[in-house]
Amino acid sequence: EKGTYPHFMLKEIDEQPFVIRNIITKYKDDNESIKLDENIRQAMAEADRIYIIAAGTSYHAGLVGKEFIEKISGIPTETHIASEFLYNMPLLSKKPLFIFISQSGETADSRGVLVNVKKLGLPSLTITNVPGSTLSRESDFTLHTFAGPEIAVASTKAYTAQMAVLAILAVDSAIARGVKMDFDPLQELAIVANAMDIFTNQKDTLEQIARDYLSLSRNCFFIGRSMDFHVCMEGSLKLKEISYIQAEGFAGGELKHGTIALIEEGTPVIGLATQENVHLNIRGNMKEVVARGANPCMISMEGFAEEDDKIVMPKVHKYLTPLVSVIPLQLIAYYAALHRGCDVDKPRNLAKSVTVE
Ligand code: F6R
Repeated sequence: EKGTYPHFMLKEIDEQPFVIRNIITKYKDDNESIKLDENIRQAMAEADRIYIIAAGTSYHAGLVGKEFIEKISGIPTETHIASEFLYNMPLLSKKPLFIFISQSGETADSRGVLVNVKKLGLPSLTITNVPGSTLSRESDFTLHTFAGPEIAVASTKAYTAQMAVLAILAVDSAIARGVKMDFDPLQELAIVANAMDIFTNQKDTLEQIARDYLSLSRNCFFIGRSMDFHVCMEGSLKLKEISYIQAEGFAGGELKHGTIALIEEGTPVIGLATQENVHLNIRGNMKEVVARGANPCMISMEGFAEEDDKIVMPKVHKYLTPLVSVIPLQLIAYYAALHRGCDVDKPRNLAKSVTVE
């Protein structure tokens, strides 16, 4: 039920701090350590390479998941679009583990890959919001995202929940591999939940930004580097699917290799600068588009924010910034769609779960 909310999407955006706190509880044991199925721990320990398979928003969570697993656990990881992997499988390593990410657990493209993986006798883990779903039943192991039912077609809380579970999984397998850890995901996720609260309480500001930047625009660009780039892809997908504004997420450094030709007087460019090691580079890229007339909206993080930044998010662990920085993008997409008179919860041409290949 929507309760007092005008749309499921807004309700689900608001639920995200609660979902993260719920995940912390579900994945914590009595000693405040990570609680995880021993079989999953072992499957992660045995893998020499991880293949993450997903579609849409879940694919974008998988891009962040790759960063977590490689940087935290040190296991080489690749993330693939399910429909591409299905007909163009790369060479596999000797001991692969497949991780399927799917809110619904019913996406046909992902299931197609799982069927092939099983034919090859290879191990599989599904991260899903629906434990009884097809992908969950047919894979060897399941991790539940505990986000509660997601009704709006545009995925929001499932995405942040998937990334939270991936961070926990990455740290757990790092510990199992004897990697020294100074990153406690359960503690850091609690800080994330508080930071999310700040944005869900700042709706007026974000509504105003949506009005100022997107009421009349034909297109919008999102630029970022490293983790921020992955979030830009998700922010642009949210905006295009519900507001029908043509939106693209770009790696900041790649702009000048072609896309910058599209920047005109007034083109909105949303920049993400939450990664300290590349924030100056993305600021440089923003200057390049502003010099060509772009209307800039910079989102940065406390600690290295600058005066002109439109949105400054509270400081969270550098690995977990995507869980927070996506919230203003979800809200901007929501208000842009609302002001353009679009059907937020049921955008045209889209279905909640895509059960055909
Ligand atoms: C975007 C969206 C879709 C889904 C995609 C995968 O907001 O909802 O891109 O993320 O269809 O669905 P699941 O995660 O159910 O496999």
